[in-house]
Amino acid sequence: MRTSILIVDDDPDYADILKDKLQTSGFRDVDLEFESPIAAERLTHGAEYDVMLIDMHMPEMDGFELLDVVKTVSPRTECIMVTAVNEARVAVECLRKGAYDYLVKPVTTEDLIFALKRTLEHKRLLDVLDIEKGKRLPELKNNQPFKPIVTRSSKMLRVMKEAELHAGSDVPVLITGDSGTGKELLARAIHEASPRAGQPFTPVNMASLTPGLFEAEFFGHTKGAFTGAENERSGYLKASNHGTVFLDEIGNLPLELQGKLLRVLQDGEYSRLGTSRRQKVDVRYIAATNADLERLMAQKRFRPDLYYRIRGGWLHLPPLKERSEDIPLLADAFIKKYLPGRDQSHIDEETMCLLMAHDYPGNVRELQSIIQTAANLAQGELITTQCIPRQLRKRNLVLECIRQNRSAPLLTLAEVEKNHIVQTYEKTGHNKSRTARLLEIGLNTLRRKLRVYGVK
Ligand SMILES: Nc1ncnc2c1ncn2[C@@H]1O[C@H](COP(=O)(O)OP(=O)(O)OP(=O)(O)O)[C@@H](O)[C@H]1O
Ligand SMILES: [Mg+2]
Repeated sequence: MRTSILIVDDDPDYADILKDKLQTSGFRDVDLEFESPIAAERLTHGAEYDVMLIDMHMPEMDGFELLDVVKTVSPRTECIMVTAVNEARVAVECLRKGAYDYLVKPVTTEDLIFALKRTLEHKRLLDVLDIEKGKRLPELKNNQPFKPIVTRSSKMLRVMKEAELHAGSDVPVLITGDSGTGKELLARAIHEASPRAGQPFTPVNMASLTPGLFEAEFFGHTKGAFTGAENERSGYLKASNHGTVFLDEIGNLPLELQGKLLRVLQDGEYSRLGTSRRQKVDVRYIAATNADLERLMAQKRFRPDLYYRIRGGWLHLPPLKERSEDIPLLADAFIKKYLPGRDQSHIDEETMCLLMAHDYPGNVRELQSIIQTAANLAQGELITTQCIPRQLRKRNLVLECIRQNRSAPLLTLAEVEKNHIVQTYEKTGHNKSRTARLLEIGLNTLRRKLRVYGVK
């Protein structure tokens, strides 16, 4: 995930130095502003930054005054103040006013990056809390990595937003959810949204590991390390250096191996079988399970220390029956996948009703396989009830559903527009600039329309 940073300093040379330090450390989205009143204006016009680095001494509006504006207009922008040596008292006052940290000039790269990472970690936790409390409308910063996840369910959008926040850090993430809900898909999206994108993503099925295999699989071995080791092998850790290891089905990892895995997660250091030389890897871990780990812990079948280690962030994917609004969207996506090039292909109304009414114990994977089979059976471009499994075809369901669809009120385009604008405005907690951005209309247009609707 990209972190957007604004440096405000009236000394362009110094601002440039800070920007260079940040960019060489991998923070690409860095903007400069030499005039503090303009920085304030940017915020009041809706610009959003994750972090601002604010110089204390500036003409017109000093760092202290700018901090006040930031905390009023954009409270979720974290501020790090940059002060001169003899300004400890001012710095402390800034912390009291809501700045998260301060740096003393001359700023070393090490101090700068340390302060920034600490600030971002604090921000990530606050943002996660907000999403969990349902306060914020989930809006992805960069939806590209999440594109393979087809959804419009607000529950899923919240999970994806939280996933994006975790992607920016290296914390281990645990993904839970029933079979077929998309845990691996989400794990890959987190990897793609993280600074590790482009590096290896290695899924490891924890259920398939045996005590004899664990070290050889994770650490690799030299030739002849044990009977049968005819070739050397590098192991998952080395193969995933700088990337992500996906610990799939972690609930099925045998108890005797859980301690070994815990040590791998804690140390990041290991030696290949057959040598005593220690090696270090830089790996991020994402784990997934459809098991109830808390229950397994109560039954002493899962180690609590491992549980808390992997649960740096926790994401739960709801079953498909709790997000039935996704069924038509997913069905369409799968039709495009399995009937490529046939642009007109679609599912008839009766069949869609039956698909909507089904419970999907196998979740998205089940829907996918139903559509795959239906696509094979379809004559031409229309998917009819004859193409879906017999147990889904229940005539009374179809009639009820069609009756409901037909009795839905018919709205004019203006009414649809009004409903949509007002709902979005409510969902953003009456935030006009965010609403305008989401709807991709101008702020003035939004204001005018709200006035016409009589909404304040
Ligand atoms: N929201 C979605 N959009 C598109 N495809 C999806 C979605 N969710 C799941 N799928 C597809 O459904 C199938 C199952 O997903 P995935 O393997 O990620 O599930 P899982 O939760 O890991 O399942 P299991 O617990 O059985 O391992 C995959 O083919 C995946 O691409
Ligand atoms: Mg899976």
